[in-house]
Amino acid sequence: MKIGFVTCRDLSRYFPSDARPLLTHDDAVCAEALEARGHEVIPVVWDADAPGDVDTLIVRSPWDYMDSPAVRSRFVERLLSWRRAGAAVENPVDLMLWNLDKRYLLDLEEAGVPIVPTQIVEPGEEISLERLFDELGPFVLKPSISAAGCDTYRVVTRQQAKSFDFEARRDERATLIQPFLEQVLTEGEWSLIFIDGKNVHAVRKRPARGNWLVQDERGGSVFSETPPDGVVACAVAAAKSIAKTSRCLPEDGYPLYARVDVLDEGAPKIAELELIEPELFFLERTPNGPVPSRGTIDAFCAAVERRFSR
Ligand SMILES: Nc1ncnc2c1ncn2[C@@H]1O[C@H](COP(=O)(O)OP(=O)(O)O)[C@@H](O)[C@H]1O
Ligand SMILES: [Mg+2]
Repeated sequence: MKIGFVTCRDLSRYFPSDARPLLTHDDAVCAEALEARGHEVIPVVWDADAPGDVDTLIVRSPWDYMDSPAVRSRFVERLLSWRRAGAAVENPVDLMLWNLDKRYLLDLEEAGVPIVPTQIVEPGEEISLERLFDELGPFVLKPSISAAGCDTYRVVTRQQAKSFDFEARRDERATLIQPFLEQVLTEGEWSLIFIDGKNVHAVRKRPARGNWLVQDERGGSVFSETPPDGVVACAVAAAKSIAKTSRCLPEDGYPLYARVDVLDEGAPKIAELELIEPELFFLERTPNGPVPSRGTIDAFCAAVERRFSR
């Protein structure tokens, strides 16, 4: 089978593989494993390459689509064009579109999944940050459509709430407001990887000293670790609810891949459900450096093959 890993033309600000610079280190290891099983894997640059004769497109690292509203729209248009062409795309295009806007968190909440408490401020809607501070204490503002901590702000004092120029920073996107869960500084954030609905691996991310954004491209640390049972149960509940909450999969269906991010403030809460282009950590992050995560790689390869044989 010929598999296209959807990526972007320049991964140099992330972590490209030396041997396959259009793929990340993690995805290159997975591509190698698929090739060892007799498949062919090619990079498909989302805004440059026609998918051609690939049997399936797997969205992996098209991360530059978040660079501007115009590029974001072009990415969505590209997804829609693949859907119109009847291309096999993982995850399914409709599921990715549902997941593009973080307001999906409210769908999870409605289904009874514990989420980080979230309020939405629509574009143009008036809000008083001071009132929010009185209600929530320190809080976080982030665009409903964003990734990698972009345009994500923290307000930690009432004075800051007073002086923060929200109007200058907001744009056509809605804004999510959440209490700042300070455990992110100490416990960090858990990311649990699910392949075809099964939890295969987890990493814990912690921010660099003085920072609160855990992303590794922002200096955060990432280690493969076993999360507490409560964190696993919370992530499993979110993963199980995807078909029902998104209405984009068969009732008993699971996406090929999902990453569930959990913040644990005593009670674990879903921070994000990533169904578009999450890092899947095919390399385990050990204190001695990265080593292939056989469980994750094998589960992924088998799930890809299962989809194709249906
Ligand atoms: N409510 C919150 N409490 C504490 N930290 C947060 C909160 N929301 C976001 N963060 C921090 O900001 C980062 C980015 O936010 P996130 O919701 O993961 O969006 P994205 O990864 O899509 O940019 C998180 O990884 C975490 O470090
Ligand atoms: Mg995140």
